Amino acid sequence: MSRYEETYLNSIKNPEEFWADAAEDIFWYKKWDTVLDNSNPPFYRWFAGGQVNTCYNALDRHVDVHGAGENLALIYDSPITGTSSKYTYSELRDVVSNFAGGLTNMGIKKGDRVLIYMPMIPETLIAMLACCRIGAIHSVVFGGFAAPELATRIDDAEPIAVIAGSCGIEPGRVVPYKPLLDQAIAISKHKPTQCIIFQRNAGPASMIAGRDIDWMDVMSKGYPQECVPLSATDPLYILYTSGTTGVPKGIVRDNAGHMVALKWSMTNTYDTHPGEVYWAASDVGWVVGHSYIVYAPLLQGCTTVIYEGKPVGTPDAGAFWRVISDHNVKTMFTAPTALRAIKREDPNAKLLERYDLSQFKSLFLAGERADPDTMEWAHQHLNVPIVDHWWQTETGWSITGNFLGLGALPIRFGSSTKPAPGFKLEVLDENTSPLPPGEIGALSIKLPMPPGCLPTLWKNDEGYVSSYLKEFPGYYQTGDAGYIDEDGYVWVMTRTDDIINVAGHRLSTGGIEEVLASHSAVAECAVMGVADPLKGQIPIGLLVLKAGINKPDGEITAEAVQMVRGSIGPVASFKTAVIVKRLPKTRSGKILRGTMRNIADGQPYEIPATIDEPASLEEIAQDLRSAGYPAK
Ligand code: COA
Ligand code: AMP
Repeated sequence: MSRYEETYLNSIKNPEEFWADAAEDIFWYKKWDTVLDNSNPPFYRWFAGGQVNTCYNALDRHVDVHGAGENLALIYDSPITGTSSKYTYSELRDVVSNFAGGLTNMGIKKGDRVLIYMPMIPETLIAMLACCRIGAIHSVVFGGFAAPELATRIDDAEPIAVIAGSCGIEPGRVVPYKPLLDQAIAISKHKPTQCIIFQRNAGPASMIAGRDIDWMDVMSKGYPQECVPLSATDPLYILYTSGTTGVPKGIVRDNAGHMVALKWSMTNTYDTHPGEVYWAASDVGWVVGHSYIVYAPLLQGCTTVIYEGKPVGTPDAGAFWRVISDHNVKTMFTAPTALRAIKREDPNAKLLERYDLSQFKSLFLAGERADPDTMEWAHQHLNVPIVDHWWQTETGWSITGNFLGLGALPIRFGSSTKPAPGFKLEVLDENTSPLPPGEIGALSIKLPMPPGCLPTLWKNDEGYVSSYLKEFPGYYQTGDAGYIDEDGYVWVMTRTDDIINVAGHRLSTGGIEEVLASHSAVAECAVMGVADPLKGQIPIGLLVLKAGINKPDGEITAEAVQMVRGSIGPVASFKTAVIVKRLPKTRSGKILRGTMRNIADGQPYEIPATIDEPASLEEIAQDLRSAGYPAK
């Protein structure tokens, strides 16, 4: 039996012992009363009764207990601004503790929500850690979202304060964040009373007297603030993610279970240890950024890298290799789309020859299924294990993976290998019956899930149950379909709902449809994710117009594209709307999105027996052909 199998079986047979043992690896003000509180199913709580502080474990402990204060905690590398900086653990602890003092000075305290809307700069991480130092619950919003998305999150989380950067910087343009924040607060029902603004030289913001406070002022009024002991089960953060409607779901993360799972993963999944450099080339606005730019590397005493740049164009397709080489990165984590972007510009990886990657040991991929071609290309050129691992905002760490710290399992391109400890993964049919190996069904996790996974949705226990636990009683429904093969390898194939993955970013087609449907000329619409060689999928919108509209089609489609950009944000990558005569439907009125997607992708499709008017499919195929689908 491999070390992986032994560990996995142990975690399933004796979950409480397994996680209690892993929990010895973090510092507790007070140990738990119960490892797993299962007194109120389906709501499970790990380490109930314990007291911890995540910031203490991420910073102070390394300085005060491990004598690692002079080790590097953070490297900021920003090709987009041509700047870089470094913080040791002592320096980072001091600045975080001072900022936490500044927040306390403003009256922010345990349990208050603080929304963070910032670019990829060290201050974002400082803001997050300062919140968790005092027990304020942060909610970070990705900078590529527009004001209405920000407003929805403000209304749900009801933050007392917002911490924002004055701007983000994208290749070739400055994105002013502050006007988006002002607009969001103008349209939200809940009004945060204090906004801390970090002014950036590239795009300083004008301030609103009485509400806005300069980051520097908060710092100057700050003082060293000790970590506040929190309940193990207190929320650490809320992170919103796309659901099946336009209203995002507020994923809640607790303190202790999160720390225990992440720390376990650093040693066993990533095989990365104190003093080593770990780089997740994601954005702090996503779960990967929360878990593996901020919390996990610091909990493990590693050096984390905040990279403000792109895989290509900042300045070239060698950017990732330059960062790995400059900072001696041992372990890297990115999305397959980033590798596809590099491969497209530098197919033979010529730029790799400029850099010394001798310290580089493994590359982890997630965010979307890693296609075998990309994995093979990366393996051929980098010659390190290329590990696809599958996870979600909800789980906070990987559901499956290849656990390099337990001895790597043979890699099968296209599979995300095997379940992580604690995840009882099963493939179910529509009657909640487990399917045999090789058969595709709903990938589902038997309850309770291991530490680190969402305990519920923010202020929405009911939504948690109806979104995830209702369809398959006793299981968490991942929303992904796939199969487990004879050897236990997991193959994640597709979503079962209307969520699509665009450049590793999760989007709801339902959310985009809600925006399109609000166009005054649109009678009906459907959005689907079509295959894209770079981004994996991109959304396209099919619009049926109301009768008697005499605006030119081009004007309507351009307005539709602009509306999605203005309502959801540039991150939606919504560039194509096509006007069609009608949408094919079943007799019960369900739009045949899957069939239309197959047509747009040039894939074989069957005409469903339940179709209302078979001729509508041929019409759609014609409309799509005129719009350039399937792409050549
Ligand atoms: N703030 C403001 N705007 C942002 C933004 C941010 N933080 N991040 C992205 N955008 C904008 C981009 O400028 C772009 O705008 P445009 O339509 O005006 O060009 C749009 O959102 C789409 O951005 P992106 O998806 O990044 O596409 P791209 O074409 O600029 O770059 C890739 C393509 C593949 C290089 C890029 O998507 C990438 O690096 N992906 C990796 C994703 C990743 O790490 N995901 C995390 C999951 S692990
Ligand atoms: P997010 O919550 O943004 O991390 O998106 C989670 C979704 O992305 C999952 O439910 C999957 O659909 C998809 N996903 C993430 N990682 C993988 C992977 N390694 N393989 C297949 N799909 C993935």
